[in-house]
Amino acid sequence: MKLKLLESYLGSVTQFPSPKVELEQYPTGPHIASRMLYMAENSFGDITGKVVADLGCGCGTLGIAAALLDAAQVVGVDVDEDALALAQENCEELEVEMDLIQANLSELPLQGLVVDTVVMNPPFGTRRKGADMEFLAAALKVAGTAVYSLHKSSTRTHIKRAAVRDFGAKTADVMCELRYDLQASYKFHKQKEKDIAVDLWRFTTSSV
Ligand SMILES: C[S@@+](CC[C@H](N)C(=O)[O-])C[C@H]1O[C@@H](n2cnc3c(N)ncnc32)[C@H](O)[C@@H]1O
Repeated sequence: MKLKLLESYLGSVTQFPSPKVELEQYPTGPHIASRMLYMAENSFGDITGKVVADLGCGCGTLGIAAALLDAAQVVGVDVDEDALALAQENCEELEVEMDLIQANLSELPLQGLVVDTVVMNPPFGTRRKGADMEFLAAALKVAGTAVYSLHKSSTRTHIKRAAVRDFGAKTADVMCELRYDLQASYKFHKQKEKDIAVDLWRFTTSSV
C-alpha cells in the first residue's frame, strides 16, 4: 500500500470525542501514524506478516495502520473501555481486525503476551509521572524483535539509558524528530495548538 493511501485511510479513524486528561488521551494524527508504520515496514520489515501490539491503542490508529499493512495479527491494549469501544468501531469501519484487551500497563499485566513488534504512542508522563517509562518497560518485555514509540525529545538521554540499562533493549535509536501537534483538546491548554518536539524511537530486543 502506498504511503498516501495509508494516510488517507487513517484520516477516517474517529478520534477521542471526550479525551480523558488523566490518561493523556491525545491521538496520533494520520500524518505521523502513517509514516511511523510505513518506516517500520519499509525500512525494517517489522509489520507485514508479523504479530503486532499497539499498547495504549486508544481509538486504534496505530494498530489499524499495522492491520492495513497486512500484519498477521494485531493486538490492541488500553485501560479505558470507552477507547476500546471506539477502536472496535473504527476497525469495523475500516474492515480490519484487532484483538482488543483491557489492561492497565502500570500493573504489568501482559505476562504471556508475546508479539514480534510493538507500536505505541504512550502517555508522555506529564499527568502521571513515569507513565511513559511503564509503557516502555512493558513494550520491551513483550516484543520479540522491535518497539516503535514516540517520546518527548527532552527525555532522550533518560529514555536511552533506561531502555538499554534497565529494560534490556539491545539497541535504542532515534529514527527522527517530529513536531507533534497537540491539539487543544484539553481545557488547560490555552493556545489553540501546542507543538511539541517528539522523537520516534526504534528499540530492538534481539540481535536481528
Ligand atoms: C497518547 S494516547 C495514544 C492513543 C493512541 N495510541 C493513538 O496513537 O492515537 C495514550 C493512550 O494510553 C492509554 N493509557 C493511559 N494509561 C494507561 C495505562 N496505565 N494502561 C493502559 N493504557 C493506558 C490511554 O487511554 C490512551 O488511549
